[in-house]
Amino acid sequence: MLPRTEGMIDMWPDDNSNSAAIFARARQVLPGGVSRLLTWVDPFPIYAKRGIGAYIEDVDGVLRLDLLNNFASLIHGHAHPAIVEAVAEVIGNGSCFAFPTEREIQLAELLRDRVASVDKVRFCNSGTEAVMLALKAARARTGRHRIAKIEGAYHGMYDHAEVSLDSTPENWGNVPKSIPHTRGTPPAVLDDTLVLPLNQTEEAVRLVRDSADNLAAILIDPVPSAIGMIEMSAEFLQAVQKAAREVGALIVTDEVIALRLGYHGAQARYGIEPDLTTFAKIIGGGYPIGAVCGTEAAMAVFSHDHGPPLNPSSGTFTGNPVSMAAGLAAMEALTPEIYQQLERAGEQARTGLRNAFDRAGRPGQVTGVGSMFQIHFHDRPMTDYRSAYLTTAEKAMAKVVHRGMLDRGFILSPRCSGFLSTVMTSAEITDLAAAFAMTLEVAQEAH
Ligand SMILES: Cc1ncc(COP(=O)(O)O)c(C=O)c1O
Repeated sequence: MLPRTEGMIDMWPDDNSNSAAIFARARQVLPGGVSRLLTWVDPFPIYAKRGIGAYIEDVDGVLRLDLLNNFASLIHGHAHPAIVEAVAEVIGNGSCFAFPTEREIQLAELLRDRVASVDKVRFCNSGTEAVMLALKAARARTGRHRIAKIEGAYHGMYDHAEVSLDSTPENWGNVPKSIPHTRGTPPAVLDDTLVLPLNQTEEAVRLVRDSADNLAAILIDPVPSAIGMIEMSAEFLQAVQKAAREVGALIVTDEVIALRLGYHGAQARYGIEPDLTTFAKIIGGGYPIGAVCGTEAAMAVFSHDHGPPLNPSSGTFTGNPVSMAAGLAAMEALTPEIYQQLERAGEQARTGLRNAFDRAGRPGQVTGVGSMFQIHFHDRPMTDYRSAYLTTAEKAMAKVVHRGMLDRGFILSPRCSGFLSTVMTSAEITDLAAAFAMTLEVAQEAH
């Protein structure tokens, strides 16, 4: 365990900091000064110098405990020795070729051996790509064009997957409408995307049945992190799967984050039997990766065994040996025992954070399962996107707490969620809860 920077509190880089100077340059060449919106925080991002295990040292020399882990992708923290060694072994021999390497087979075999619905694997380079490929595969397999997704769920940047990601009370309608996420989204994309309300079983089944003739796939994530990290109910999951089979649509399970919930995948944990599954993040060990996987029948669309594939897929860096080697090392280190350790760490974090709310005597709750948690500054029951939708005051509170935690040396996501890593100790998780209690106290005075 590394000591976080001593005397933390108000360690936000000021206008004379290295982060401020770098950001001034960044603004000249990057729109808004960043390469991805996720890294921006008001008034400028803290720039990283290096990652060491569970910590990030910033360019001003401040060390913080990293609970965000590059948005859930670093399950072993930063520069894990086994991953560094695996990458070092391959990288001196070339980083990519227009020849396949044996490593892609090894990682595919590991995924097939662990996850019951996986017969075949097709790699790509990100979760966005994996979801796009899975939806295209479902279309190719069924000869249909429409896809269904859950209102408010995040699945990356593919057009159809983005629909109704951030619809609002002003535009979401009574029955969920297809609302564009980006300006200029083609109307056809909206027409071809059916939006289902999370955990509203009857309504969702009715909508699926109404779309019986043209529905290719239903895209689900059992713990959608953009919807407050609440779980899909067992009833909803079973009913939606049954409705999909009834109308001849495929089930696509997005485990880009959820694979961290179980050695055999989140699908084993929640009783899902998907045709196709997407993985990314942790299966790359910190390097870019994505994968669409599934049953022999569903994955046959990618194969050229019997003539041109129904869905030809390609990609310059797909299956590159560096990501494959890193991913294999990361996944091999994730044994069933380590999954249990992560489960206990998550429970400790959620309990500690809940206790902080209790002691502060203010409304709040902590959701999440396994190694994931999300802090909410209200106590209304959450079952779907609409009940989890933040008020202006709740958004403001999340901003204050996110910033307060950074000041105290703890990195959470801007929506105050976290994804634990295997290199985090119980003492560090105790520190997290203590820092949250102090942050809450100060935030309360400010509000
Ligand atoms: C559930 C889910 N699906 C897909 C994606 C997209 O993955 P990527 O950022 O690798 O494109 C994300 C990213 O956070 C995700 O959380």
